[in-house]
Amino acid sequence: MMLKKNPAGKIGRNDPCPCGSGLKYKKCCLKKNKPVSGPDYLKKTYLEKYGIRLKEKHEIDGIRECGRLVVETLDLVEKMIEPGISTDEINRVVHQFAIDHGARPAPLNYKGFPKSVCTSVNDVVCHGIPGDRVLEDGDIINVDVTHVYKGFFADASKTFFVGTPGNDAKKIVDVAANCLKQAMTMLAPGRTIGDIGWAIQQYAENRGCSVVRDFVGHGVGCEFHEPPQVPHYGKRGTGTVLVAGMVFTVEPMINLGGHELYIEKDGWTAVTSDHSLSAQFEQTFLITDSGFESLTPFDL
Ligand code: MF3
Ligand code: CO
Ligand code: CO
Repeated sequence: MMLKKNPAGKIGRNDPCPCGSGLKYKKCCLKKNKPVSGPDYLKKTYLEKYGIRLKEKHEIDGIRECGRLVVETLDLVEKMIEPGISTDEINRVVHQFAIDHGARPAPLNYKGFPKSVCTSVNDVVCHGIPGDRVLEDGDIINVDVTHVYKGFFADASKTFFVGTPGNDAKKIVDVAANCLKQAMTMLAPGRTIGDIGWAIQQYAENRGCSVVRDFVGHGVGCEFHEPPQVPHYGKRGTGTVLVAGMVFTVEPMINLGGHELYIEKDGWTAVTSDHSLSAQFEQTFLITDSGFESLTPFDL
């Protein structure tokens, strides 16, 4: 179905014009026979059509504040990563940092998840549960942090080297980081969700890697996971059109081998079926009038 520019019956002739001019609809866009655009119109249609909640300024400010804590947490984790530490020690540090800063770790008890952060080592694609596992020289580990602060959620992750990386580790982490960079070139109003997936898939497959299908990016901010879903593969020009005020994650999981995975008996840990290495980087992005802003910014 084509995007309806002006769904019948939604705006009365005497209502304020949704383009934000301050004039009545009949004196403004209706008179000029212009398709209605503007923040109020989009906010209503995106919620009704897609369930997407476009964020207001105070919400964006809250998510950004939360995002700063998330990035600070990842910085703290980065400093402690070395051979010999356990994933449980990472969990403790993440949990304590959140509490000390008036935040709450969103994963804890989320749909039964038992810990405060996801730690995914080597062939673990995502949702690794912290525990006794001790990091070894040459491992890679993704640490995925989501906090809730003053009611707002921000979600980001990075993959770290443990000690000295081998060539496979270097390659998959480089490809995953570059996939997120490629995605960022598509973040602007007028682009589509499909453009994001297309850019990631092109890059990953050109380098002989594969893109995980079973997990997607997601709207975030007022809840942990909101619409829309953001696949990391896809066709250019398809899917929902990006508009200012959208806040969502992009979090491509990239495998050195095939994209297939299985879930371990704990119900969470996702592992590559061929046990090839998997890496991931994630940020929370806001679409702005001129492009985008990362609400969890870090260098890639
Ligand atoms: N942070 C993950 C994401 O990027 C979700 C983790 S859900 C959990 O969407 F329950 F495993 F924590
Ligand atoms: Co996420
Ligand atoms: Co995450």
